[in-house]
Amino acid sequence: MEPTFHRLTSQHGDLVLRTESFAEIVYFGPHLQHFTAQDCLSLGRPVANGRLDIDTPITLAAELGGGLFSSPGIEGHRNGLDASPIFTTCQVEQHGQTLVVTSEDREAGLRLTSEIQLADSGVVQIRHGLSNLRAVAWQVDRLAVTLPVAERARDVMAFHGRWTREFQPHRIALEHDSFVIENRRGRTSHEHFPALITGTSGFSEQQGEVWGVHLGWSGNHRLRCEVKSDGRRYLQAEALYLSGEMALAEGETLWTPWLYASYSATGLNGMSQQFHRFLRDEVIRFPDNKARPVHLNTWEGIYFNHNPHYIMQMASRAAELGVERFIIDDGWFRGRDHDRAALGDWYLDETKYPDGLAPVISHVKSLGMEFGIWVEPEMINPDSDLYRAHPDWVLKLPGYQQATGRYQWVLDLSNPQVYAFLLDRMTWLLGEHAIDYVKWDMNRELVQAGHNGKAAADAQTRHYYRLLDELNQRYPHIEFESCASGGGRIDYEVLKRCHRFWASDNNDALERNTIQRGMSYFFPPEVMGAHIGNRYCHATFRQHSIEFRGLTALFGHLGIELDPIKADADESAGYQRYVQLYKQWRPLLHTGNLWRVDMPDAATQVQGVVSCDKATGLFLVSQLAMPDYTLAGNLRFPGLDPAARYQVSLIDHPNIRVVSEGGHTMRQLPAWMSSAMTLSGEWLAQAGLALPVLDPESAILLSVKRIC
Ligand code: DGJ
Repeated sequence: MEPTFHRLTSQHGDLVLRTESFAEIVYFGPHLQHFTAQDCLSLGRPVANGRLDIDTPITLAAELGGGLFSSPGIEGHRNGLDASPIFTTCQVEQHGQTLVVTSEDREAGLRLTSEIQLADSGVVQIRHGLSNLRAVAWQVDRLAVTLPVAERARDVMAFHGRWTREFQPHRIALEHDSFVIENRRGRTSHEHFPALITGTSGFSEQQGEVWGVHLGWSGNHRLRCEVKSDGRRYLQAEALYLSGEMALAEGETLWTPWLYASYSATGLNGMSQQFHRFLRDEVIRFPDNKARPVHLNTWEGIYFNHNPHYIMQMASRAAELGVERFIIDDGWFRGRDHDRAALGDWYLDETKYPDGLAPVISHVKSLGMEFGIWVEPEMINPDSDLYRAHPDWVLKLPGYQQATGRYQWVLDLSNPQVYAFLLDRMTWLLGEHAIDYVKWDMNRELVQAGHNGKAAADAQTRHYYRLLDELNQRYPHIEFESCASGGGRIDYEVLKRCHRFWASDNNDALERNTIQRGMSYFFPPEVMGAHIGNRYCHATFRQHSIEFRGLTALFGHLGIELDPIKADADESAGYQRYVQLYKQWRPLLHTGNLWRVDMPDAATQVQGVVSCDKATGLFLVSQLAMPDYTLAGNLRFPGLDPAARYQVSLIDHPNIRVVSEGGHTMRQLPAWMSSAMTLSGEWLAQAGLALPVLDPESAILLSVKRIC
């Protein structure tokens, strides 16, 4: 049969597929201006000597049966039978930039429906639906989305992490075999963010070709970068199923999570800008489209020590600082005096709040702020009324002792009674109180996640989505934050149901620079919760100036997390200043294009946001450690209009002084700091601006404004 080709196209990149007689992605790369399907015939591969006598395509399902010999996209069986399917295309439909390929293996009794979409942003979305066409159940061991990438994509970048240290990038040059990320923690995890980036050798923020993928799934997952012995490469991503967890009865269909992929010819920035644009166009929805309000979260200010009178004073002080949303964190419900008890008892603690929550809420609202509250619905403490009444509601396998984590267990959401209970309690909370915002936490991982004796981690994630969907539907004006001990549940599928992520429990500005930069590869600033914490960071005991803390929080969705009553005059003036600065710049920060700048010294971290019309930019230069060199070098500004002229201004800095004025890093400032300069966008991009010599753990903020 003559092969048939389909192209999905965007200005950023194209995807070309062969669809007959099997489906295979044959091209994912730069946009093609002169594409003809006939040209694709040039990719017909030779059959090498010493191997099978046939060509072995990397099909959409990457079946082993075609002679692939590497990680397949599908594994499973029907009581040991029908275990090596090979799919043949039976239907192809293309509508605009959406392609649906239906294929079947009649021998094995399976149908595969593949949906592939290319958005204007350049982001490709792919998912497969596997249907069982026979009476006996088909046990699904694996079902992955497979995306071939160019042979020149030799470097691999991924993220490791842990609690208080999320999104730490690392990379390797992969020449042979595979690089695999496996997450078995039952939530997206701090440790294994579901993304892989591969690119040409030495790709950087601003240079090289990059192929990046993210799996939108908040449970167990596996991602792989595979190099075949014939040199072909592919990325693969899937929900990871525990033994016996997934079986398809006759007529049932299992959908993979969506894989999101981007090709960029301009390094990591191009990839991030595509992902950000995609999320802004298609996923992120803020009620009434409102600007991201400044938060004050009580957690690191008072912890479990709730006193409504004091909290109201905190709210008054917060309003004076310019806060727009006041959030009561953990500690408001019955028996919750510490982290060892009460999860599950979602009733107001009347010893702490004898008049209910209403006086606090009214006070907060009378100050012109929104009111938010913390919950952790999926959890139960052994020391709780809920556990005493329903010890069988815990997610576990019978016959084993379930380990606690932060003194808590997980509730079995597959149990309809549990689900109904949580829906009821959340409906009480959200329906009977004037709540605008919910911080939804999840502070432990799933271990031996079981329902009726069988593994149920996948089902747990689906029921969590269902619960959140139902609450979103009932209370469309309420915003949700996804928090899981900080950044343990950050991904695109949960973002369809929430409006903000708590990026990390670590408010240390130095650590936050790396965490937030890591997160920025896939998420735009407006969904990245970033708070100014105490001068003495609670997570690291480091101390940072208010300038460094304030500027670091500026490039996200800014908040304050401390007790504003206890702050001294300098600190308070600082909070006010950065809240004000954030309000002034958030329209740009939350709509513009994000740029991370390649710098000669890894300890100098630069990021900026430039408006889509290139008229305005805001750049943050953070000196993380002692500079490597005596001089800091030039900052070359990306993203500007080369033909325009810009006014460069220093907006904020940590009291930069020369030696004669008591400073110690410079005898003379860079020239532009002493006399105002306007420069062309071209000059700023190609030659740049000499940076001042900064102390470690400090930052400066620069703006560029087009004047003609
Ligand atoms: C973990 C969260 O990440 C913190 O911000 C805080 O909400 C605590 N849980 C409360 O228990």
